[in-house]
Amino acid sequence: MPASGLFITFEGMDGSGKTTQMRRLAARLRAMGRTVLETAEPGGTPIGAKIRRILLDGANQELCPTAELLLYFASRAQNVDEWILPALGRGEVVLADRFTDSSLVYQGYGRGLGAENVMALDRIACRGLQPHLTLLVDIDAETSLARAHARNQAETSSETRMDEQSLEFHREVYRAYHELAAREPERVKLVNGRAGMDEIEAAIWRLVSPNV
Ligand SMILES: Nc1ncnc2c1ncn2[C@@H]1O[C@H](COP(=O)(O)OP(=O)(O)O)[C@@H](O)[C@H]1O
Ligand SMILES: [Mg+2]
Repeated sequence: MPASGLFITFEGMDGSGKTTQMRRLAARLRAMGRTVLETAEPGGTPIGAKIRRILLDGANQELCPTAELLLYFASRAQNVDEWILPALGRGEVVLADRFTDSSLVYQGYGRGLGAENVMALDRIACRGLQPHLTLLVDIDAETSLARAHARNQAETSSETRMDEQSLEFHREVYRAYHELAAREPERVKLVNGRAGMDEIEAAIWRLVSPNV
Protein backbone atom coordinates (compact mmCIF):
# COMPACT_ATOMS: atom_id res chain seq x y z
CA MET A 1 0.00 0.00 0.00
CA PRO A 2 1.46 3.40 -0.95
CA ALA A 3 2.99 5.44 1.87
CA SER A 4 0.84 8.22 3.25
CA GLY A 5 -2.06 8.78 0.87
CA LEU A 6 -5.72 8.11 1.55
CA PHE A 7 -7.86 6.31 -1.03
CA ILE A 8 -11.65 6.73 -0.68
CA THR A 9 -14.17 5.32 -3.14
CA PHE A 10 -17.83 6.21 -3.67
CA GLU A 11 -20.20 3.41 -4.59
CA GLY A 12 -23.93 3.08 -5.05
CA MET A 13 -26.64 2.87 -7.66
CA ASP A 14 -26.85 5.37 -10.50
CA GLY A 15 -28.48 8.55 -9.20
CA SER A 16 -27.66 7.80 -5.55
CA GLY A 17 -25.72 11.05 -5.18
CA LYS A 18 -22.11 9.86 -5.51
CA THR A 19 -20.98 12.72 -7.73
CA THR A 20 -22.80 15.32 -5.62
CA GLN A 21 -21.25 14.05 -2.41
CA MET A 22 -17.78 13.50 -3.80
CA ARG A 23 -17.61 17.16 -4.87
CA ARG A 24 -18.67 18.27 -1.39
CA LEU A 25 -16.12 16.03 0.33
CA ALA A 26 -13.36 17.25 -1.99
CA ALA A 27 -14.22 20.86 -1.14
CA ARG A 28 -14.07 20.14 2.60
CA LEU A 29 -10.73 18.37 2.32
CA ARG A 30 -9.26 21.17 0.20
CA ALA A 31 -10.47 23.73 2.73
CA MET A 32 -8.36 21.84 5.30
CA GLY A 33 -5.34 22.17 3.04
CA ARG A 34 -5.29 18.61 1.69
CA THR A 35 -4.44 17.98 -1.95
CA VAL A 36 -7.27 15.99 -3.52
CA LEU A 37 -7.43 14.02 -6.76
CA GLU A 38 -11.01 13.46 -7.94
CA THR A 39 -11.53 10.74 -10.47
CA ALA A 40 -14.60 9.06 -11.94
CA GLU A 41 -15.20 5.71 -13.62
CA PRO A 42 -15.29 4.84 -16.34
CA GLY A 43 -13.01 7.63 -17.44
CA GLY A 44 -10.56 9.68 -15.43
CA THR A 45 -7.48 9.69 -17.65
CA PRO A 46 -7.70 10.78 -21.33
CA ILE A 47 -7.53 7.13 -22.41
CA GLY A 48 -10.21 6.29 -19.85
CA ALA A 49 -12.47 9.00 -21.29
CA LYS A 50 -12.30 7.31 -24.69
CA ILE A 51 -13.20 3.96 -23.14
CA ARG A 52 -16.07 5.67 -21.30
CA ARG A 53 -17.66 6.77 -24.57
CA ILE A 54 -17.83 3.15 -25.77
CA LEU A 55 -19.26 1.88 -22.48
CA LEU A 56 -22.01 4.45 -21.96
CA ASP A 57 -23.17 4.95 -25.56
CA GLY A 58 -26.81 3.88 -25.82
CA ALA A 59 -26.13 2.82 -29.42
CA ASN A 60 -23.74 0.03 -28.26
CA GLN A 61 -26.43 -2.47 -27.27
CA GLU A 62 -24.45 -5.38 -28.76
CA LEU A 63 -21.45 -4.86 -26.43
CA CYS A 64 -21.03 -8.33 -24.91
CA PRO A 65 -20.75 -8.69 -21.11
CA THR A 66 -17.15 -9.92 -21.17
CA ALA A 67 -16.01 -7.05 -23.39
CA GLU A 68 -17.82 -4.65 -21.06
CA LEU A 69 -16.03 -6.07 -18.03
CA LEU A 70 -12.62 -5.88 -19.70
CA LEU A 71 -13.19 -2.30 -20.86
CA TYR A 72 -13.99 -1.21 -17.30
CA PHE A 73 -10.79 -2.84 -16.10
CA ALA A 74 -8.77 -1.33 -18.95
CA SER A 75 -9.95 2.12 -17.90
CA ARG A 76 -9.21 1.30 -14.25
CA ALA A 77 -5.72 -0.06 -14.92
CA GLN A 78 -4.82 3.14 -16.76
CA ASN A 79 -6.23 5.25 -13.94
CA VAL A 80 -4.37 3.29 -11.22
CA ASP A 81 -1.09 3.54 -13.09
CA GLU A 82 -1.26 7.07 -14.44
CA TRP A 83 -3.04 8.92 -11.64
CA ILE A 84 -4.03 7.02 -8.49
CA LEU A 85 -0.80 5.32 -7.37
CA PRO A 86 1.36 8.40 -8.09
CA ALA A 87 -1.04 10.65 -6.13
CA LEU A 88 -1.12 8.25 -3.17
CA GLY A 89 2.67 8.09 -3.30
CA ARG A 90 2.74 11.89 -2.91
CA GLY A 91 0.54 11.58 0.18
CA GLU A 92 -2.59 13.02 -1.46
CA VAL A 93 -6.23 12.10 -0.93
CA VAL A 94 -7.72 10.24 -3.90
CA LEU A 95 -11.50 10.22 -4.30
CA ALA A 96 -12.88 7.79 -6.86
CA ASP A 97 -16.45 7.86 -8.16
CA ARG A 98 -16.81 4.05 -8.58
CA PHE A 99 -14.02 1.43 -8.51
CA THR A 100 -13.68 -2.39 -8.48
CA ASP A 101 -16.76 -2.83 -6.26
CA SER A 102 -18.86 -1.51 -9.15
CA SER A 103 -17.47 -4.21 -11.46
CA LEU A 104 -18.17 -6.77 -8.77
CA VAL A 105 -21.84 -5.85 -8.34
CA TYR A 106 -22.76 -4.79 -11.93
CA GLN A 107 -20.76 -7.32 -13.94
CA GLY A 108 -19.93 -10.05 -11.40
CA TYR A 109 -23.46 -10.29 -10.00
CA GLY A 110 -25.77 -8.18 -12.22
CA ARG A 111 -24.49 -9.74 -15.46
CA GLY A 112 -23.64 -13.04 -13.76
CA LEU A 113 -19.97 -13.08 -14.81
CA GLY A 114 -18.86 -14.29 -11.39
CA ALA A 115 -17.19 -12.58 -8.45
CA GLU A 116 -14.05 -14.73 -8.81
CA ASN A 117 -13.49 -13.59 -12.40
CA VAL A 118 -13.90 -9.96 -11.43
CA MET A 119 -11.45 -10.26 -8.54
CA ALA A 120 -8.91 -12.02 -10.79
CA LEU A 121 -8.99 -8.99 -13.10
CA ASP A 122 -8.72 -6.69 -10.10
CA ARG A 123 -5.45 -8.35 -9.12
CA ILE A 124 -4.04 -7.66 -12.59
CA ALA A 125 -5.37 -4.11 -13.03
CA CYS A 126 -5.04 -2.74 -9.49
CA ARG A 127 -2.05 -4.76 -8.27
CA GLY A 128 -3.21 -5.01 -4.67
CA LEU A 129 -4.50 -1.46 -4.37
CA GLN A 130 -7.64 -1.39 -2.21
CA PRO A 131 -9.66 1.57 -0.96
CA HIS A 132 -9.03 2.51 2.68
CA LEU A 133 -12.69 3.51 2.92
CA THR A 134 -15.67 2.91 0.63
CA LEU A 135 -18.78 5.08 1.03
CA LEU A 136 -21.82 3.17 -0.21
CA VAL A 137 -24.53 5.75 -0.88
CA ASP A 138 -27.62 3.64 -0.52
CA ILE A 139 -30.86 4.07 -2.48
CA ASP A 140 -33.26 1.44 -3.80
CA ALA A 141 -33.52 0.41 -7.46
CA GLU A 142 -36.75 2.33 -8.10
CA THR A 143 -35.37 5.63 -6.76
CA SER A 144 -32.20 5.04 -8.74
CA LEU A 145 -34.01 4.64 -12.06
CA ALA A 146 -36.27 7.64 -11.41
CA ARG A 147 -33.36 9.96 -10.56
CA ALA A 148 -31.18 8.74 -13.42
CA HIS A 149 -33.96 9.21 -15.97
CA ALA A 150 -34.73 12.70 -14.68
CA ARG A 151 -31.06 13.66 -14.87
CA ASN A 152 -30.52 12.23 -18.35
CA GLN A 153 -33.61 14.02 -19.64
CA ALA A 154 -32.42 17.32 -18.16
CA GLU A 155 -29.00 16.85 -19.80
CA THR A 156 -30.33 15.25 -23.05
CA SER A 157 -27.56 12.73 -22.45
CA SER A 158 -26.68 9.87 -24.79
CA GLU A 159 -25.09 8.03 -21.82
CA THR A 160 -28.15 5.91 -21.20
CA ARG A 161 -26.95 2.36 -21.77
CA MET A 162 -26.96 1.34 -18.08
CA ASP A 163 -30.32 2.97 -17.26
CA GLU A 164 -31.90 0.95 -20.06
CA GLN A 165 -31.27 -2.28 -18.10
CA SER A 166 -34.25 -3.93 -16.43
CA LEU A 167 -35.51 -3.19 -12.94
CA GLU A 168 -34.59 -6.80 -12.11
CA PHE A 169 -30.94 -6.10 -13.05
CA HIS A 170 -30.87 -3.03 -10.79
CA ARG A 171 -32.44 -5.00 -7.93
CA GLU A 172 -29.70 -7.61 -8.22
CA VAL A 173 -27.10 -4.83 -8.10
CA TYR A 174 -28.75 -3.42 -4.96
CA ARG A 175 -28.71 -6.85 -3.31
CA ALA A 176 -25.04 -7.37 -4.21
CA TYR A 177 -24.04 -3.98 -2.77
CA HIS A 178 -25.68 -4.89 0.54
CA GLU A 179 -23.99 -8.28 0.59
CA LEU A 180 -20.64 -6.54 0.04
CA ALA A 181 -21.27 -4.11 2.92
CA ALA A 182 -22.14 -7.04 5.21
CA ARG A 183 -19.01 -8.95 4.16
CA GLU A 184 -16.57 -6.04 4.59
CA PRO A 185 -18.04 -3.81 7.31
CA GLU A 186 -14.67 -2.28 8.25
CA ARG A 187 -14.08 -0.87 4.77
CA VAL A 188 -17.56 -0.45 3.28
CA LYS A 189 -19.78 2.05 5.12
CA LEU A 190 -23.45 2.47 4.25
CA VAL A 191 -24.80 6.01 4.03
CA ASN A 192 -28.55 6.64 3.61
CA GLY A 193 -28.86 8.19 0.15
CA ARG A 194 -32.52 9.14 0.62
CA ALA A 195 -31.67 11.71 3.27
CA GLY A 196 -31.16 15.35 2.32
CA MET A 197 -27.89 16.31 0.65
CA ASP A 198 -26.59 18.25 3.68
CA GLU A 199 -27.43 15.39 6.02
CA ILE A 200 -25.59 12.92 3.79
CA GLU A 201 -22.60 15.26 3.59
CA ALA A 202 -22.46 15.39 7.41
CA ALA A 203 -22.74 11.59 7.71
CA ILE A 204 -19.89 11.16 5.24
CA TRP A 205 -17.75 13.68 7.10
CA ARG A 206 -18.22 11.73 10.34
CA LEU A 207 -16.80 8.66 8.58
CA VAL A 208 -13.94 10.43 6.80
CA SER A 209 -12.72 12.99 9.33
CA PRO A 210 -11.07 10.47 11.71
CA ASN A 211 -8.82 9.46 8.79
CA VAL A 212 -7.53 12.92 7.83
N1 LIG B 1 -29.88 13.46 -1.31
C1 LIG B 1 -30.50 13.72 -2.46
N2 LIG B 1 -31.83 13.86 -2.51
C2 LIG B 1 -32.48 14.10 -3.68
N3 LIG B 1 -31.87 14.21 -4.88
C3 LIG B 1 -30.54 14.08 -4.91
C4 LIG B 1 -29.77 13.81 -3.71
N4 LIG B 1 -28.46 13.73 -4.06
C5 LIG B 1 -28.42 13.91 -5.39
N5 LIG B 1 -29.64 14.13 -5.90
C6 LIG B 1 -29.98 14.37 -7.31
O1 LIG B 1 -30.05 13.09 -7.94
C7 LIG B 1 -29.43 13.16 -9.21
C8 LIG B 1 -28.25 12.21 -9.25
O2 LIG B 1 -27.21 12.69 -8.38
P1 LIG B 1 -25.68 12.36 -8.71
O3 LIG B 1 -24.85 13.00 -7.65
O4 LIG B 1 -25.38 12.68 -10.12
O5 LIG B 1 -25.70 10.76 -8.51
P2 LIG B 1 -24.71 9.64 -9.04
O6 LIG B 1 -23.39 10.32 -9.29
O7 LIG B 1 -24.65 8.65 -7.92
O8 LIG B 1 -25.34 9.06 -10.26
C9 LIG B 1 -29.03 14.62 -9.45
O9 LIG B 1 -30.05 15.24 -10.17
C10 LIG B 1 -28.91 15.16 -8.04
O10 LIG B 1 -29.15 16.55 -8.00
MG1 LIG C 1 -22.22 10.31 -10.98
